[in-house]
Amino acid sequence: MKDLTKISTILMGLTLTVFLFSCGGGDGKSAADRIKEQAQMEPADPYENWQSYDGVGPIQNFTLPGEIDQEMVANGKEVYDIKCTACHKAEKKFIGPSPKGILERRTATWVMNMILNPEEMVQKDPIAKKLFIEYNGSPMANQNLTEDEARAVLEYFRTL
Ligand code: HEC
Repeated sequence: MKDLTKISTILMGLTLTVFLFSCGGGDGKSAADRIKEQAQMEPADPYENWQSYDGVGPIQNFTLPGEIDQEMVANGKEVYDIKCTACHKAEKKFIGPSPKGILERRTATWVMNMILNPEEMVQKDPIAKKLFIEYNGSPMANQNLTEDEARAVLEYFRTL
């Protein structure tokens, strides 16, 4: 009797193993392998991995020079005061996030693309999508800045 129980336990175990393995589909991969693969394909938290996101838009691989250009800062502040302060405040979260310390959480390229191409960013970029949800679906507005204006605003953000 004891032996019978043992044998049936072993048999059940075997059946389960065969079942699990056969769930993997016809390509010879085990179920465990598949789950692992899927986990690797899932994007990790985009906020945590911000350095690898440059966004989508007209700007690619842009890096800032070391020195801050004060004349550009003044121009950027002017543009920002007119076109951005309806939704952004330097010191705190408002309709949109505060731009303070932005370069400690986004790449310069990403910021330029977010200013110049927010509609597509919100649809395609993982960080922009997450922000859009976080800000209750209020979209970042395209203020039709030129590339030079966006660049100047970014220079101003460096001083906040
Ligand atoms: C109508 C409101 C509105 C205006 C005007 C606006 N924004 Fe935004 N902005 C937002 C919102 C809301 C977000 C959060 C992202 C989203 O919901 O799409 C955002 C996000 C951003 C971000 C990303 C911030 C982060 O923490 O990643 C940047 C950079 C930005 N805006 C820059 C600007 C600049 C520069 C201007 C002016 C040229 C501007 N915005 C004008 C509403 C606005």
